[in-house]
Amino acid sequence: MPRLNLAIIGVGGVGTAFISQLQSLPSDVRPSIIFLSRSSKQLYGTNYSPVDPSELQSSSSKLLSIPDIAAHLSSSPNPVCLVDNTSNQDVADAYPLFLSRNISVITPNKKAFSSNLKLWDDIFSAAQNSNGKAFCYHESSVGAGLPVISSLNDLIKTGDTVTRIEGVFSGTMSFLFNTFAPASGSSTDKWSKIVGEAKAAGYTEPDPRDDLNGMDVARKLTILARIAGLKVQGPDSFPVQSLIPESLQSASSSDEFMQKLPDFDSEMESYKEKAEKEGKVVRYVGSIDVQSQKVKVGLEMVEKGSAIGGLNGSDNLICFYTKRYGANPLVIQGAGAGNDVTAMGVMSDLLKVIERTR
Ligand SMILES: NC(=O)c1ccc[n+]([C@@H]2O[C@H](COP(=O)([O-])OP(=O)(O)OC[C@H]3O[C@@H](n4cnc5c(N)ncnc54)[C@H](OP(=O)(O)O)[C@@H]3O)[C@@H](O)[C@H]2O)c1
Repeated sequence: MPRLNLAIIGVGGVGTAFISQLQSLPSDVRPSIIFLSRSSKQLYGTNYSPVDPSELQSSSSKLLSIPDIAAHLSSSPNPVCLVDNTSNQDVADAYPLFLSRNISVITPNKKAFSSNLKLWDDIFSAAQNSNGKAFCYHESSVGAGLPVISSLNDLIKTGDTVTRIEGVFSGTMSFLFNTFAPASGSSTDKWSKIVGEAKAAGYTEPDPRDDLNGMDVARKLTILARIAGLKVQGPDSFPVQSLIPESLQSASSSDEFMQKLPDFDSEMESYKEKAEKEGKVVRYVGSIDVQSQKVKVGLEMVEKGSAIGGLNGSDNLICFYTKRYGANPLVIQGAGAGNDVTAMGVMSDLLKVIERTR
């Protein structure tokens, strides 16, 4: 059987963990890396021989454009799988090109699957038109290594009816709200203090507004809604509650935002108190009502004893309500971020490609 060749774009946190996990594959199925790239460096040979990742930094290979990479890979004597470990939109936009050249694509990058619907359609029709030569998987684009996308696909493909998907899709939001309004015990810490501490500990993006605007969650919901069959145009086509106060939208820097965030504490406190009066807790929840085709992201008051209400730490939690599972949803919970678990999701996609291109 021809051995799969790998082209890896992006060797940051996830890319490095992915390369390291490759070593755990049995040597007789382990793909060879024939192309490796970061923003300013590429490493490849002219005869598709394996490359040594440790030589990327000192490589003098001529930088190829994305179409040139596709052309180069499409002449490989063995099947090729592109692993996109970047968050780059240009690379994502080129997935239909790679797939149309019979190059499989696997990625944790949300961009391709959550931007315009045409790109989504182009990607999956290119994969379909390859007649089993090229596949596209993106397990880690929602919930990192948690089996969220594969489980949803399995539910649908085995004929179950998914009626609702609901959960906490951001490790950062999970941590902030589990700390701000714990289901057991109590916290008197102000919202701005908790955000500040999370930022200092590296639990938020460098600019916490990139978490608090809700767009990361909206992108994940867009992906799941599309898999569930909804024609969602994009993450801005349904209600998304931003936790950036209107008056702070224009703050010129992350520091200025953090300085002024305490002005917003009373508003957050009022959400918390309102929930407490009903014996509930406030959480940042994403939900997809498949039957009514409604998607939304924002603050919800949830029962303390519910799966979402009782979350701890920074876990993600995704509930699939389906006809087969009845009143008790299929629940998937665990770390939704981290290099190793994200790389594991990419590896699980790779195993599928290895099996299917044999
Ligand atoms: N980390 C997580 O917990 C997690 C969880 C779920 C999903 N993801 C997704 O996984 C992906 C990778 O995340 P990460 O944390 O590993 O990011 P990262 O550490 O910032 O690494 C990104 C890598 O991509 C490279 N890159 C960016 N643009 C490129 C381009 N145009 N051509 C070639 N290389 C390019 C960067 O190269 P330079 O260093 O040279 O710029 C870097 O090696 C992202 O899409 C992210 O959303 C991550």
